[in-house]
Amino acid sequence: MRKPLMTANWKMNKTVSEAVGFANNLKLVLRDAQDVEVVICPTFVALSEVSKILEGSSAKLGAQNVYMQENGAYTGEVSPLMLKELGCKYVIIGHSERREYFKEDNELINAKLKLALKYQLRTILCVGETLAEYQNNQTIDIVKAEIREGLAGVDKEQMGRVTIAYEPIWAIGTGKTATPNDANKVHKIIRKIISDMFDIKTGEKMRIQYGGSVKPDNISALMEQSDIDGALVGGASLSVESFIKIINYGKKD
Ligand code: PGA
Repeated sequence: MRKPLMTANWKMNKTVSEAVGFANNLKLVLRDAQDVEVVICPTFVALSEVSKILEGSSAKLGAQNVYMQENGAYTGEVSPLMLKELGCKYVIIGHSERREYFKEDNELINAKLKLALKYQLRTILCVGETLAEYQNNQTIDIVKAEIREGLAGVDKEQMGRVTIAYEPIWAIGTGKTATPNDANKVHKIIRKIISDMFDIKTGEKMRIQYGGSVKPDNISALMEQSDIDGALVGGASLSVESFIKIINYGKKD
């Protein structure tokens, strides 16, 4: 019912020529009609070239960030209009690295998300707890606040373009993953939060990705869980070989 979504978050990796090489190679191994939706999020500077290559393929283009204004004197920022023109269908918002290094808070993330939705972009809202919060049993409180504040003012129709990525921060790039069962428990709670905020149908329809050290050898166990609808993949999305294994999880060939 919910089509799995596998998103490559390259972060600040790959020059434009490296990104072009990856996109060309991915096209060679990607099936025409995937039963999994695939999204590639390169750096801003590589979006234009990667967009041209992905045209006509089953993979879609996404950005890693966006600003909360259409245009104006905001040096160094990029607006949703600009992303749309380049062929972006998705944008990641509120990644923990942006929250931590660039001091993005829920209010700013909410403003970005609302403007991106206004311009018909699909948004991937990232939520998740730090190691200290995890150890203090604060996971649910943190995730609830990030969702409630991040989605404030979003309506039901717009929720059709929202995916939530649950990424325990202690699992990102560390090689540690939440066990599939533990991750699924949080996913179920996230779905309940959405159902309570909107309605059950909206909660049931929304995809929830897991992120944090997803690799070819742990993706199948994660995807077997009832409420895990895909993955937001950092390190393992940087090579076509490992990312295609994640996309084709559970398949023999
Ligand atoms: P990772 O990153 O797969 O390298 O842990 C995931 C992410 O930060 O989205």
